[in-house]
Amino acid sequence: MAAAVVVIAGCAIAVGAAASGGLPESASDAVAQIAGPPAVADDGIPVPQLAAVAATATPCDDPAFTTALAAGDDAAVIDAAGGGGAFRAAVASGIAPCVSLSDPNREWLVVNKQRPYDPVDYQPGDLVMPADVRALEDSALRAPAARALTSLVKAAADAGVGEIGYLSAYRSYTTQKSTYAGRVAVGGVAEADRESARPGYSEHQSGMAVDIVPCKGSCKTLDDVAASPQGAWVRDHAWEYGFITRYAEGRESVSGYEPEAWHLRYIGPELARAYHEGGFTTLEEFFGLPAAPTY
Ligand code: DAL
Ligand code: ZN
Repeated sequence: MAAAVVVIAGCAIAVGAAASGGLPESASDAVAQIAGPPAVADDGIPVPQLAAVAATATPCDDPAFTTALAAGDDAAVIDAAGGGGAFRAAVASGIAPCVSLSDPNREWLVVNKQRPYDPVDYQPGDLVMPADVRALEDSALRAPAARALTSLVKAAADAGVGEIGYLSAYRSYTTQKSTYAGRVAVGGVAEADRESARPGYSEHQSGMAVDIVPCKGSCKTLDDVAASPQGAWVRDHAWEYGFITRYAEGRESVSGYEPEAWHLRYIGPELARAYHEGGFTTLEEFFGLPAAPTY
């Protein structure tokens, strides 16, 4: 990617820091740097030699990036940024304002108690039933997530950990309304809010979240996932198929929800790799967003 170059007036110009591909790991990489030993002026005071530096290495100025963005090709967008880690760093550092984390059609969508859908009753357009996966409900996923779930389930079976089925995947605004109301009826608002999203705030409405269950003959419940061989395998390997465990242990103060070992969110393989390799445990921290413990 070509980078804009700033000339620091009054100083000798050293080598320009042209970006040779990808993006800096953080915005702090795009600051002026001392290029060499100070020269000495006539009055004997050292004059620092400042390098020409990339001032705005934003992917939003890169035609490959913006063309992929306009085409709705999430994988090509991330590739143009230089990979999942570079994409994440650009977005989190604020140098990529052309990327919206609120766009419900994107794999990098972030929905939480502070970030409802716009429109609130958004519906994805490419819902399909995942092939060769036991569905306990008639509940679909967006096509890329469905394909990824098929691969994940096959890989788990091939690894000998047993069958993975699923309960709920896409839930419409209206379905979420009854799901949430059901939880409130049982345990009250405070308890419901720790377990279930209000309508317009659930990742299930994106068609990119799925609640898995372990099966052996018959299938068990969501609460059985954490202690099952399937749950252990998913914790270690889901990222290889583009999924993350969205509501991790001990992260309620950031994610807003109690741990859900069963709730997998599809963010695509490149972002999931960056999430895994970076040791992230919330999507909020991954993208540098504020914590969302409450509405
Ligand atoms: N159980 C998750 C938080 C949802 O309702 O979307
Ligand atoms: Zn879920």
